[in-house]
Amino acid sequence: MTKIASNLQIDSARLWDSIHETAKFGATAKGGVRRLTLGPEDKQVRDWFRRACEAAGLEVHVDALGSMFGLRRGRDMSKPPVGLGSHLDTQPTGGKFDGVLGTLAALEVVRTLNDAGIETETPICIVNWTNEEGSRFAPAMMASAAYVGDFTTADILSRKDTDGVTVAEALDTIGYGGESPVGTQKFSGFVELHIEQGPILEAEGKTIGVVDSGQGVLWYDGRITGFESHAGSTPMPLRRDALATLAEIVLAVESIASKQAPSAVGTIGEAAIANPSRNVIPGEIVFTVDCRSADAAIMDAIDKELRAAAAAISARRKVEVALDLVWRKAPTRFDPKLVDAVEHAATALGYSHRRITSGAGHDACNLNTVMPAAMVFVPCKDGVSHNELEDATQADCTAGANVLMHTVLALAGVAS
Ligand code: GLV
Ligand code: MN
Ligand code: MN
Repeated sequence: MTKIASNLQIDSARLWDSIHETAKFGATAKGGVRRLTLGPEDKQVRDWFRRACEAAGLEVHVDALGSMFGLRRGRDMSKPPVGLGSHLDTQPTGGKFDGVLGTLAALEVVRTLNDAGIETETPICIVNWTNEEGSRFAPAMMASAAYVGDFTTADILSRKDTDGVTVAEALDTIGYGGESPVGTQKFSGFVELHIEQGPILEAEGKTIGVVDSGQGVLWYDGRITGFESHAGSTPMPLRRDALATLAEIVLAVESIASKQAPSAVGTIGEAAIANPSRNVIPGEIVFTVDCRSADAAIMDAIDKELRAAAAAISARRKVEVALDLVWRKAPTRFDPKLVDAVEHAATALGYSHRRITSGAGHDACNLNTVMPAAMVFVPCKDGVSHNELEDATQADCTAGANVLMHTVLALAGVAS
C-alpha cells in the first residue's frame, strides 16, 4: 500500500445511505427487497445506478445481456481495468445486502477516490452483472457465465421465465439490451465484496472473510409424470401419485447430501403440481434440485446417487421421473495472488479475518475461470440470506468496502 492509500477510508454514511436508498426499489412489507432480474424494480435500480455512475464521472456502457459497466480512467489506458462489483437483482423474498453491498461498495470506492483526488495507474471498472440470482431465469450468474464463454449470448437471450418471457424480451421491455457484445469489456482481474450468507464469520467474531474457494453447483429440472385420478374412489394400491413420489425424492436429496455433510448441501426449492385440486391425485409435477459441494468428486458422486435414487423410486411407484442436469458449475479456487492481496489489505487495515469457502455462487466464481479473481466477505446476522430478514452492520459493511478499496488500489496502483 502506498502512503496516500493507507490512510484512505470509504465514506461509511454515504455507503449506508446508498444501500438504504436503493432498498426502496422493490421494498417489501417485512423490510426485505423483491427485485427480480429485468423487472420494473430492476429498471428503477439500474436507472439509479447509471445516474450515480455518471455523476461520479464514469463512462457507462451496457452489454447485450444488460450488464452495466462504469469505467474510471487510469493513467495508463493501455492496461485493462481492475473490475469490482456484484449484482443488484434479488430473490423474490430477498434482502437489502445480497449483491447490493458489493455493487454499491464499488461505487463508493470510486466516489472516495474522486474525493481524495487519487488517480490509479490502471483504470478501474465497476460492474452490475445481470441475473446473478437465477430465480427468474436459469442459470444463476448467467451474464458472467456468458462473459466467460460458458454459454452463447443467443442461448442466454432465449432463456424463458415461467410466464414464457425471454431474456431478450425482458431486456427490451426495460431498455437494457445494450450495444456492446458480451465479453468486450476486458479486465486485468476482478474483486467482489459480498455478505457471507452463512454463519461462520459471525460465530467466530471475525470481520472479514478472505474467500479462497467456492462450492460447485448442480442444478436439475425435474418432472414427475404419474396419473390424475379421483381422490375418493381410487384405491391406494392403484395410485400413481406424483406428489407422493416427489416426497420420496425430496427425502432422497436430503439424505444423499446429509451423508456428505458438511461437504455438501442439497435442496428442492421449487415444485408445482399441474392443475392442483384437493380431490384429484396429482398426476404431474415439475420441480428443481440444487446440490453443491466444494469437491468435484463429491459432486459426481451426488449426481450418480441422485439419478439412481430417482430411477428406483420411479420403478417402484410406476411413475416417470425425468431429471435434466441444466447447469454444472465446477468448484472455484480463487487466484492465490489476489486472495493474498485481500488478506494483506485486511491485515494492513487491522481487521480480524480468516480464510473461507463461499457456500453461495457468485459472478466472481465465473470470472475466475478467465482472469484472476477474489472475494471479500463480511458477516451477516445469524448467517441468514435469501430472506427478507437478511441484515448486516454498518461497521462490517464499511470494513468490507475498505478492504475492497485497498485490494483494488494494490492491484491498480496509484499514479505518482
Ligand atoms: C446465488 O445466489 C446462488 O448461490 O444460488
Ligand atoms: Mn449475491
Ligand atoms: Mn443471492
